[in-house]
Amino acid sequence: MAEIIDGKQISLDIKDEIKDKVAWLKGKDIEVTLAVILVGNDPASTVYVKNKKLACEYTGIKSLSYELPEETTEEELLKLIDELNADKKVNGILVQLPLPKHIKEDAVIKRISPDKDVDGFHPESVGRLSIGERGFVSCTPAGIIQLLKRSKVDIDGAECVVVGRSNIVGKPMAMLLIRENGTVTVCHSRTKDLKEVTKRADILVVAIGKPEFIDASYVKEGAVVIDVGIHRKEGKKLCGDVNYASVEPVCSKITPVPGGVGPMTIAMLMYNCYEAALMQNGL
Ligand code: GUN
Repeated sequence: MAEIIDGKQISLDIKDEIKDKVAWLKGKDIEVTLAVILVGNDPASTVYVKNKKLACEYTGIKSLSYELPEETTEEELLKLIDELNADKKVNGILVQLPLPKHIKEDAVIKRISPDKDVDGFHPESVGRLSIGERGFVSCTPAGIIQLLKRSKVDIDGAECVVVGRSNIVGKPMAMLLIRENGTVTVCHSRTKDLKEVTKRADILVVAIGKPEFIDASYVKEGAVVIDVGIHRKEGKKLCGDVNYASVEPVCSKITPVPGGVGPMTIAMLMYNCYEAALMQNGL
């Protein structure tokens, strides 16, 4: 029987820790503040933004909400970002993705001040991560490192395989595992013999966006399996990129879907807001 890595509980522990740190900053007259921008009314984005605002409330972070209509122009959005960049009371800026098709996402990401880039998507944040400088780390991979550390998984020297090479998860995940002294391989859709590579992993992180793609035949006995995927199956049940029923009996630890990686993303966003306030106040 594999140990289930309880992301819900770990994310709560982290939010409780952040709550104390945010209160400590309040004692120094620093009110941690996050500006959240949502353009349009994509249903999934609306739910994510609501949950981010709830997490702010829980941790004592002030959230400023900007809900803009679908027809908002790129110019209008960039102007709002400029204003928030210049506002000393705002520590972090989050623009929920995806944006409507007429707005260029990379232009928006690059316009956010690197000092307020709590999503960790700005090229400067990505660069800082890759050379090991202090900066913002993309929330999902940062959350996975916390899941591993708090579940007493030793990354140092471990054979780590990341399946997926996205800018938001796969690539920063590889960088973070290298920082923790893992031996890291990144696989993707063009990898010739995926199974041969994944079967080497002591720690297997799966972010390929294909429902229940990884079964026991891809997993080494005793591996730790982290499932980043989330999909809705017929009949409304949620599943990940990993076939849980098949993999659970062969691995040593596994994240469930839901309740694994998902809740960690928002907890780490709260952490990045706290970190932004620290950096902006020379702490
Ligand atoms: N859309 C899906 N995930 C994310 C995220 O982590 N940050 C933002 N800004 N948008 C997203």
